Amino acid sequence: DESELRAVFEATIERHDRIEPRDWMPEAYRKTVIRQVAQHAHSEIIGMQPEGNWITRAPSLRRKAILLAKVQDEAGHGLYLYSACETLGVSRLELTEMLINGKQKYSSIFNYPTLSYADVGTIGWLVDGAAICNQVPLCRTSYGPYGRSMIRICKEESFHQRQGYELLATMMRGTDEQREMVQESVNRFWWPALMMFGPPDDDSPNTAQSMAWGIKRNTNDDLRQRMVDMTVPQAKALGVTLPDPELRWNEERQSHDFGSPDWDEFKDVITGNGPCNTQRIAHRRRAHEDGAWVREAAMAFAARGAEA
Ligand code: ACO
Repeated sequence: DESELRAVFEATIERHDRIEPRDWMPEAYRKTVIRQVAQHAHSEIIGMQPEGNWITRAPSLRRKAILLAKVQDEAGHGLYLYSACETLGVSRLELTEMLINGKQKYSSIFNYPTLSYADVGTIGWLVDGAAICNQVPLCRTSYGPYGRSMIRICKEESFHQRQGYELLATMMRGTDEQREMVQESVNRFWWPALMMFGPPDDDSPNTAQSMAWGIKRNTNDDLRQRMVDMTVPQAKALGVTLPDPELRWNEERQSHDFGSPDWDEFKDVITGNGPCNTQRIAHRRRAHEDGAWVREAAMAFAARGAEA
């Protein structure tokens, strides 16, 4: 009966073991994992747009090949994550429809424009850097298919982060104008990158329950702190400044103190009013509609195979 099933579920969580697709799970757990994994998958897919914007204008064949491969990796991440989500009984088509109808979210960061080629490097360094901070602990998330997909995704994300850092380091060895481009890009992306970790813990409705279920392994503020501590020495090595006058080392805490992102801006962006929300969703909707004939042809072909 249900109380026995619930006890098995709770014991599994208690042991920090995995919940698998065929295991019993509370409906609220299923809903929360679907919400988080879908949001994560959508972020990978929408995240192809800001960088994809520069593929045709990359400054060399080498940079173009790197960028193409990177954007393709994001598509791959989206697909693993949609597959992980499908194990919970929701189809990729339904998930895509919830994305384009605004019923499910994707990361705030991808609603900012990419105004210069340096943004490709900054996204690799800061955005993929934030993604790694957030996702390495998710390799130990309680839902098996999600955790396993994270292992491979994190390997690729850490390669992306190095790629971005290397691009910026190359520009920093270039002309004054190139150095200015890097600094201007870092100034625009720093705060939005810190917002990726979500609202402060005391304003995060989902953290407590998601931590209790082992879906999340750390709180939003915890991971944001890790990101700051990881990035400060890298910024120094690059020779860029981070646009936060309150940023300083705190000897007592052995960590950096830092200012607060503009949480009103964050709320605007996640409720659909960021600089590029409309454009991102319109583009995704168009791609989905333009692909309808491919899905129909594939279904018709599969049905013919089944008849034969
Ligand atoms: N962008 C958009 N929405 C966000 C963001 C963000 N940066 N941070 C929080 N939210 C949303 C939450 O989804 C939630 O809304 P919902 O209830 O309608 O779904 C609301 O704000 C309140 O936030 P929390 O209670 O803190 O939500 P949660 O516990 O889900 O934590 C977090 C948010 C940290 C983003 C978590 O979902 C997570 O770790 N997700 C996996 C990582 C991920 O999605 N990465 C994608 C970007 S990285 C990349 O693709 C390169």
